Amino acid sequence: VDTSSTRAAAEIGVIGGSGFYSFLEDVTEITVETPYGAPSDSLFLGEIAGRTVAFLPRHGREHRLPPNRINYRANLWALRSVGVRQVFGPCAVGGLRTEYGPGTLLVPDQLVDRTKSRTQTFFDGEPLPGGGSVPNVVHTTFADPYCPAGRAVAVAAARGRGWEPVDGGTMVVIEGPRFSTRAESLWHAAQGWSVVGMTGHPEAVLARELGLCYTSMSLVTDLDAGAETGDGVSHEEVLRVFGENVGRLREVLFDAVAALPKTEDRDCLCTHVHDGWDLGIELP
Ligand code: ADE
Repeated sequence: VDTSSTRAAAEIGVIGGSGFYSFLEDVTEITVETPYGAPSDSLFLGEIAGRTVAFLPRHGREHRLPPNRINYRANLWALRSVGVRQVFGPCAVGGLRTEYGPGTLLVPDQLVDRTKSRTQTFFDGEPLPGGGSVPNVVHTTFADPYCPAGRAVAVAAARGRGWEPVDGGTMVVIEGPRFSTRAESLWHAAQGWSVVGMTGHPEAVLARELGLCYTSMSLVTDLDAGAETGDGVSHEEVLRVFGENVGRLREVLFDAVAALPKTEDRDCLCTHVHDGWDLGIELP
């Protein structure tokens, strides 16, 4: 690892989840401070097929941070401030239906927020701490929370590696750090929701607020309490199954990163939100 304190640039971000602490081999590690505090870890910058990538382990590389203590604002701001405009957010989730068993890869197209205590906006009626100029009151369009172009690329990349993904579905995000009760899980499933996780929100909305394309890649590590018949989900199970699948997830991500549109060629809904706003970010 080449450790450098200068701010380097990257166009694509990957935020690795539980069990996913490193991504590229030949990397430059940079520390980034943000007006919102420190991100979960350094950014690890590298290259895939001529595309520059910044990897950030969501929980920190030693998995220090529970989902409810992650500084999501600092994470997204740090990526944006090195030039990232498109983000993949792989994460571990529980399946809410028996057909979504461990090892299923689901690329959700909808999200339900059941978190309770997380700051979910950069725009809270105050001037941005880092400067810039945005309206006092901001309501962000979020009907379709994920980037359609990023989703299509992720689905095609998984298919290309022989890992047929579930294309679409709803991720419900719970506060954690505990898993759901059986009643909660049955209720989530009865709503027609597909998978349950702990980190997908506010990550997706904060990305949208910064004009970043955001695509979740949800790896099912377990059947959630309502769909399974054992003692319930354990953290060991989540980490073990994620570890078993992280190799092929990396391969899919390599292909997906390589296939993303060039930053300047993007024309998805994500780029039309807050178009051209001055966030006070000085790019490298
Ligand atoms: N992450 C992995 N498995 C999960 C589950 N069953 N519930 C919430 N988050 C999870």
